[in-house]
Amino acid sequence: MGSAKLTLDDREYELPTVVGTEDEVGIDISRLRGQSRLITLDNGYANTGSCQSSITFIDGERGILRYRGYPIEQIAEHASFSEVCYLLLEGDLPDQAEKERFDHELTYHSMLHEDMKKFFEGYPPTAHPMVILSSMVASLSSYYPSANKEDKLRLNMSRLLAKAITIAAFSYKKSIGQPFMYPQNRLSYTGRFLDMMFSVPAEEYTVNPVLEDALNLLLILHADHEQNCSTSTVRMVGSSGANLYASIAAGICALWGPLHGGANQKVIEQLSMIHEAGGGYRKFVDKAKDKNDDFRLMGFGHRVYKNFDPRARILKKAADAVLEDLGVDDPLLEIAKNLEQVALEDEYFVERRLYPNVDFYSGIIYSAMGIPTNMFTVMFALGRLPGWLAHWKEMRSDRATRINRPRQIYTGATERSWVPLADR
Ligand code: ACO
Repeated sequence: MGSAKLTLDDREYELPTVVGTEDEVGIDISRLRGQSRLITLDNGYANTGSCQSSITFIDGERGILRYRGYPIEQIAEHASFSEVCYLLLEGDLPDQAEKERFDHELTYHSMLHEDMKKFFEGYPPTAHPMVILSSMVASLSSYYPSANKEDKLRLNMSRLLAKAITIAAFSYKKSIGQPFMYPQNRLSYTGRFLDMMFSVPAEEYTVNPVLEDALNLLLILHADHEQNCSTSTVRMVGSSGANLYASIAAGICALWGPLHGGANQKVIEQLSMIHEAGGGYRKFVDKAKDKNDDFRLMGFGHRVYKNFDPRARILKKAADAVLEDLGVDDPLLEIAKNLEQVALEDEYFVERRLYPNVDFYSGIIYSAMGIPTNMFTVMFALGRLPGWLAHWKEMRSDRATRINRPRQIYTGATERSWVPLADR
């Protein structure tokens, strides 16, 4: 691949290109400013590569998603979430011994320091679990100051994966006023989480394998998605040298927004609103198309998928199967399918290539599993955690990493003289 040429007025600048393993081509503008004082402007970084990465490949035009080269469809069919964590963090699938060692790490670091239980007491019962999750994750850095030591990275990453489900379940128990249930080592990763969420001291609780499998699938499908808003945040915060826990806490906050991970909660709220309004979804499609109305169809559209989101395809199928297995009849699933049909045939959505994204069906499955709506984004965070960790690790080990510091085009006042208070 040759270089690119940029001509401005009568000057020409030669810009090298970078080619990825899937033949994606990037124009390297990193030296442009040094040569010319020019910068590039790209609101929302829609066409800007911030790094080179070997973790996840997405081709949004063709609806392709691969973790470390493995198609998401194969991973969804065969993998356990812990295998996916290992794959993302280490670059390859674990063999039997590696898998056992890793599962052991994810099991035996799952308890929180007892003092941390007091932190939960300080929140009002109405606190959103995302705020609790982000603050608890940041707080872990005070217990594990070794977080950034190279020889302790694997330990701290396993620690965080192991403890995240405990924090999430404790935040739920806190919100409903029930006692915290401690992690059970005999259970799988997803089984342990469900047990901490739904068991109570007074009764025997057996983890339903249907729920365990459904959760495994949901976590896997959310595990990584290259340079999205939260992952880029993790890399950006980490680029300053901030510790692992602080960087991940920042990613959790970025995920919380309704245009990102918060969309799954909004989807269910929107579907419920349509249901309560009598199910007339056409009215809501028209509302979403109205440029004078801020209303958007939540769970539709994606920055990179201009074909179908492959994760949404898998989840749509799973939603049918899980609800049937659990014997749940949720009118919202029918509304979601009808809404999808109407939107997919509508010129506005077709023209803009707006398809259901991963969040469109995930909430319906979470609801059927008994997970409350305000926990949906926490569930997304639990799934995305290995992706954030893998990117943080990659960012740290990449010699090309510099502190992330974009430029801007200044549009404010030009120089003016200070006006004393009495003269204003
Ligand atoms: N409903 C109605 N119109 C939409 C929607 C939607 N859900 N999404 C995009 N559009 C329209 C925009 O109004 C815009 O129209 P225009 O060209 O006439 O101005 C066009 O489609 C392009 O949309 P942008 O907002 O420019 O696309 P962008 O790539 O910046 O945003 C985003 C992507 C944030 C996902 C957007 O589609 C959206 O807000 N969707 C709803 C929220 C959602 O589901 N978020 C979850 C994303 S997936 C994830 O984070 C896991």
